[in-house]
Amino acid sequence: MGKKPWSGRFSQDTDAMVERFTSSIDVDKALYAYDIEGSIAHLTMLAHVGIITQDEAAALRTGLGRVKAKIAGDDFEFSDALEDIHMHVESALGDEAGDVARKLHTGRSRNDQVALDIRMYLKAEIKGIIARLFALQRVLVKMADQYKRVVMPGYTHLQRAQPVLFAHHLMAYYEMFKRDQERMADCLKRTDVMPLGAAALAGTTFPLEREYTRQLLGFAKVSDNSMDSVSDRDFAMEFISAASIAMIHLSRFSEELVLWSSSEFAFITISDAFTTGSSIMPQKKNPDVAELVRGKTARVVGNLMAIITLMKSLPLAYNRDMQEDKEPLFDTVNTVKACLDVYTRMLPNIKVNKETMLAASEKGFLNATDLADYLVLKGVPFRQAHSISGKAVAFALEHSKELHHLTVQEFKTFSEVIEPDIFEYLSIEHMISRRGTHGGTGYDNVLKAIDRATRDLDEQ
Ligand code: ARG
Repeated sequence: MGKKPWSGRFSQDTDAMVERFTSSIDVDKALYAYDIEGSIAHLTMLAHVGIITQDEAAALRTGLGRVKAKIAGDDFEFSDALEDIHMHVESALGDEAGDVARKLHTGRSRNDQVALDIRMYLKAEIKGIIARLFALQRVLVKMADQYKRVVMPGYTHLQRAQPVLFAHHLMAYYEMFKRDQERMADCLKRTDVMPLGAAALAGTTFPLEREYTRQLLGFAKVSDNSMDSVSDRDFAMEFISAASIAMIHLSRFSEELVLWSSSEFAFITISDAFTTGSSIMPQKKNPDVAELVRGKTARVVGNLMAIITLMKSLPLAYNRDMQEDKEPLFDTVNTVKACLDVYTRMLPNIKVNKETMLAASEKGFLNATDLADYLVLKGVPFRQAHSISGKAVAFALEHSKELHHLTVQEFKTFSEVIEPDIFEYLSIEHMISRRGTHGGTGYDNVLKAIDRATRDLDEQ
């Protein structure tokens, strides 16, 4: 018989293929530091309530410290026979501390232990992701400020619609990442709950002081239902869901960077350091970073599908299926962090071709709405004004002109109320300035938005 801690009722060794199949050590060894920290809190509490002696606690603590140093120093042998990180740590503790190691698991199950480890891990990682979202927001606000007078075509249906400030477009992403950061902070609240003491599912007969363990580990609260504590992975589902939304924002941004850096748009140039070449076409400079971020969004959304499908039919309480929660969770954390980091570095390395953006804003009838609005100001009902402007567009198209190239006489064939002041109305400067409703692209609004964001970020 192997030295498995649960082998008491077994008379046969585990099949080697089953050992390999059920092992999660390759994945969950990443949790070792949390597992050990959780164990130290648990044994400290056990000594506090008198279940073990202070001497035993000290021996266990020293032993766990040594185990931690060994794993950290890569001086540790992992084996499928010991299934997961929890059993590895406990078994290694036996080697370091002797028989007293057998007392560590008193009043505890791997079910509450693994829930604790993932929560500790995720708490730290969410904080790291929030910090990265702030860094990205800072870069966006800085760029918005740098380009606060640059005009670009705004699109709907990817057709030129109305001119907007490039800064306004950037600040749209600022808002998205702000909500992402808020979603992460909210998810952190539900992650910050201490499950240890739930034991296998029903609580334990030992007089554990869960509140004491909570304080030692710095959790906001103790979980209220032992069955929920070992069954719940909704904090992880919620995190991957919030992460998916953040990735979708990055992916949409990436799509725009890819489009904008094409010769067809030529709105931006991404620096050489953030692009790659082609092994066959010497002229190529490809926006691979943006493309890969867009591509990696699929992984994260896939991880969300994996974890919600994993959980959907599980009866209470713990089921071994749940061991499969870690790969999607870890992969999501690693992917989101990498994408946020690379974006924060890439954005300041983008050159904005303002003349091209401006020229594009002056072609394609982006001022047709403003012509209609002008007519409304002169007393024409909006629906009629819309139709008049549409007719003027058709006329201009036929003559290969823009609206602002028509003469007053030509305008007058569509509506008598049009006077020479129309040209000011149709100019880019006016179109931007007049969009003064809160949240619009007007210069003042965008400046205010940049100010607000700068203040918000300074408070962080
Ligand atoms: N490796 C397991 C997991 O990640 C730990 C909990 C195992 N519990 C059990 N009863 N087999 O979910």
